[in-house]
Formats: sequence, structure tokens, C-alpha cells
Amino acid sequence: MGKKVTISIIKCDVGSLAGHHVVPKPLFDIAEKNLKKAMNEGTINNFFVFNAGDDLELLMAHESGEQNKDIHKLAWDTFKEAANKALQLKLYAAGQDLLKDAFSGNVRGMGPGVAEMEIEERASDPIVVFAADKTSAGSFNYPLFMIFADPMNTAGLVIDPNMLCGFKFEIIDTLEDKSAVLQCPREMYEMLALIGTVGRYAISRVWRASDDLICASSSVSKLSLIAGKYVGKDDPVMIARAQHGLPAVGEILAPFMHSYFVQGWMRGSHWGPLMPVGLRASKCTAFDGPPRIVALGFQLANGKISSDDEGKPLIADLFDDPAFSMARHEAIQNGSTLRRMGEFEPARLSAEEMEYTTIKQVLQKLKKRFVPLDQS
Ligand code: F6R
Ligand code: MG
Ligand code: MG
Repeated sequence: MGKKVTISIIKCDVGSLAGHHVVPKPLFDIAEKNLKKAMNEGTINNFFVFNAGDDLELLMAHESGEQNKDIHKLAWDTFKEAANKALQLKLYAAGQDLLKDAFSGNVRGMGPGVAEMEIEERASDPIVVFAADKTSAGSFNYPLFMIFADPMNTAGLVIDPNMLCGFKFEIIDTLEDKSAVLQCPREMYEMLALIGTVGRYAISRVWRASDDLICASSSVSKLSLIAGKYVGKDDPVMIARAQHGLPAVGEILAPFMHSYFVQGWMRGSHWGPLMPVGLRASKCTAFDGPPRIVALGFQLANGKISSDDEGKPLIADLFDDPAFSMARHEAIQNGSTLRRMGEFEPARLSAEEMEYTTIKQVLQKLKKRFVPLDQS
């Protein structure tokens, strides 16, 4: 039996430099300081701090299991302290995801996002963590389907005898606050019928069907915890396990060789092309985007993120690679095509899916001007 270890990634927008664009250094420093202290005290085994655009991301390895109070408090306190620093520095939208009085126009999805996975450490356990900005949890439906259910993407589904059994997917209905588990390939068409509706259904967990080995976990579960209602674009995170009877790291990354469209971008109210980037380009600029995603790879070693002799975690910045240049180029080209349509659908989301809208005020203002067609 391998050692039980939990990977937690907890993220929050605590304030950004120059609009909703990037996490500046003083906020990283606070996260580094607090997590280092927690590591020295034994609360966590080790950690890596990074950002996805304006979201501060705390990646932690520990042995306290999922939903653990101490781990979550550590993250919450860190976000609070960082938000206070952001306030002092007059950074933009300081404490956006923590304090409702720091209003920035986003009333939905105010709260840190969490993806966690308690696993029994395998002899060698490669993990890939994804973090995206300016988009929603349903954005992971498409790559998760390709990785764990599409044999045209994942050769292992056909070639590796350990994967012939297929995978089980937990699908969350974020409108009705319900979940169902579907198994592929058996129920692939039923699953596709749901997960194509990315604004409503989102894949939250994936298991290998033969032995229920947990393979992936995303932050969508948070949606079901908040008052049973849809909470909008929450800049999701996801953890996926790779290799040896699971999709290879390369199969997990292959869906990102092309850009695809996600909900979010400017004011959380537009379709935008997802752009895979390395950490140095993890910042949202043009039209507050395009929505970006980073992928970090690492190995587990005795309950920790495998580290060098100085204790520095060994982290692979997987999208910092020319293999994803084509996707970045497509994102810019397809994004600029959409932008030429301005506020016309399908560039803009449908009225129900927009993060915020003036439609109510416009209709109120024009109320008397609308007359029945037979009187005009
Ligand atoms: C999207 C996002 C940004 C803001 C936009 C307007 O999730 O955070 O696109 O919606 O920059 O921000 P405010 O209303 O703060 O000026
Ligand atoms: Mg923001
Ligand atoms: Mg964000």
C-alpha cells in the first residue's frame, strides 16, 4: 500500500496589478511566507505558489485529506492577508473573491476555488495541475472528455489493456445542484448530450472504471456548495493523474494543441478562445484575455512534490513549449474574428449566461416605448 497524500490547489482573486490582469510580487511573497511557515510547522508537506492571470494559486501536498479545515484555513488566512496588502497598495479589485464590499462588478462566484485529490501514492506518480483565468469550470469538459474518453486523442484507451475498461465521470448540474456518474464508452453519447452544455454541466471527477482509481478532480464541486445556485465564471483549477494505466502526460496535454472556445473573457460575458501559456505569459491582456490556461507537471515523492536538494519543488511548466504555439496563434486569430462582432451573439454570451448585463435597465428605460405590434 502506498502512502496516502492529498494534493490541494486552492485559488483566489485577491487583487491585481493594472486591472484584472496579473498577481503582483508582494502578494506572492505573502503566500510564500505563510505556506513556508505551515510547512515548517508540519501542516503541509510542501507547496508551490503561482498565478493564473489575476488568481493567486496555492498548490499544496499534505496528509490531512480533502476538505480539511486547517488546510482551508491556511489558504483563507493567506488570501485575507494578501487582500489586505492589495488594499494597501490600492491594487485593483482587492479581495474580490473574499469581501463582498470590495465590489468590482462581479457578483457571482465570490469565493476561493478548490480542487483536491487524496491518493495512494504509486511507485511513481506523475500529476498535471491546470489553472485557467477568465473562464468557467465547464471549460474543462472538452479536454476531460478527450483525455479520458476519446480514443482519437488518447491512444492508451485502445492500446493499453489497463484502460480498456474506460472511465467514470461525475457530472455536476450546476443549475439544479445535483450530480450523476456516467461511464464511458458505455454511456458516451448520453454524457456528451449533457457536457456540451458547458454553462450548466461540468465534469468534477474522473475515476478508472475497473478499480475506481481517482484520476482527475476539478474545482467545479465548489459550485454546488454555494447556495445551490449557478455562480458564474470562477476561473477553474483541475488536477489530473498520469501514466502507467492512465492517460500519458502527452495525452493529457494533446487537447491543448488547438485552441477551443470557452465562456468568460471580458466581463465574464463572451465566448473566447482558450490560450495555453507558460507561466511567464500567465496574464490576461487583450479584451481581458484571451482566457488563459497554464499546466504544471510534477511527481510525488513520499507525500511531497518531488524537490531538488535545496527543497525547491521540481515543477515542469508544460505549456511553455513551441508545441502549443499553434494553439496560441489560433487563439489570437479566432479571438480577433470574434471581437469583430462586438456585442453580437455568438461573440457575446446569451443573455442568461452573461456575468452581468444592462438588459434590465434598458428594458425598464424603454418600457413605455414598446407598443403592441397592431398599434404601431
Ligand atoms: C472577468 C473580469 C474582467 C472584468 C472587467 C471589468 O471575469 O474580471 O473582465 O469584468 O475588467 O471590471 P470592472 O467592472 O471591475 O471594471
Ligand atoms: Mg478578477
Ligand atoms: Mg481571475
